[in-house]
Amino acid sequence: TKSNDLAETDEVAELLPSLPKETSWRSGYMYRYQGFWCPEKQISAVIAFQRHFVAHKTDTILVTLPKTGTTWLKALAFSIMNRAKYAASQNPLNSFNPHGLVPFFEYKLYANNQIPDLSVFPSPRIFATHVPYPSLPDSIKNSSCQIVYLCRNPFDTFISLWHFISQARPERFGPLSLEDSFDRFCNGVAGFGPFFDHVLGFWTKSLERPEKVLFLKFEDMKEDINSQLKRLAEFLGCPFSAEEERDGVIEGISKLCSFSNLKDKEANKTGMSIPGFENNTLFRRGEVGDWVNFLTPDMVDRLNKIMEQQLAGSGLQF
Ligand code: A3P
Repeated sequence: TKSNDLAETDEVAELLPSLPKETSWRSGYMYRYQGFWCPEKQISAVIAFQRHFVAHKTDTILVTLPKTGTTWLKALAFSIMNRAKYAASQNPLNSFNPHGLVPFFEYKLYANNQIPDLSVFPSPRIFATHVPYPSLPDSIKNSSCQIVYLCRNPFDTFISLWHFISQARPERFGPLSLEDSFDRFCNGVAGFGPFFDHVLGFWTKSLERPEKVLFLKFEDMKEDINSQLKRLAEFLGCPFSAEEERDGVIEGISKLCSFSNLKDKEANKTGMSIPGFENNTLFRRGEVGDWVNFLTPDMVDRLNKIMEQQLAGSGLQF
């Protein structure tokens, strides 16, 4: 690991005043960088990632918006790709939080002005990011590495985000208003958003280049995890064999990565795998449709109208 050139030149400090700025949901600011709202703390990591990351052909990059099921996807992809390496009882997910096994570029690898030495990662490597498609490093777009994108309906994503940030926000700022947060979410002002730009960027690519981008939905995974696991394994070039299917390997992975199983692991009840966020706050309810308990009919109406307009003609539905 070495120090990055951004720290040396203070380039980020010079860039920030030129960018549109909003107070963040949590503390500090978010900046609109290359069209997306990037939390202040992650900006230099994102730029270093864009400049320095060199993708390998065999890499898998998991991409999500915050609170759309990142932790679950990390667990599933890790388990699929390492299934020959560990017996179920030996799987590192029993003793590590998924974010410790599949690191984020912007919260971990390129954070703190570091350029990581990624040659230490055994191949095939798995990494994760919230960065939208147009801002991914050219090396990811142009090499034959693969992208798995997971999205979730905007209603549940918003409610999950509101709870998550409410818990992480310093107490001195007072409670995070549901109404204000909703207004900002609807206006696209949320980390790595606007929501629909992010989702549509990957949706469009998945249609253009299905061998490059696999597009998954949280709701489909909740409805039938085994068939989505099969899709994922096929896409990653390691489909389950007939023998594995017969031996219950798919069900074993679904179970290992299930909300109820992971939530109760010691490693997920304590500690902090993403700086500033307690591991236990990553596991709240893990259901579809919890938004009905929080949003007023007017709010639902407003977001439905935005969704209709944004997704019109795309073929994508929630
Ligand atoms: P809720 O707040 O609706 O419960 P992320 O991992 O991107 O931060 O997303 C967090 C959301 O995924 C939370 O949603 C969390 O409870 C849910 N989640 C975490 N692990 C899960 C799992 N193994 N299965 C299903 N949902 C999970």
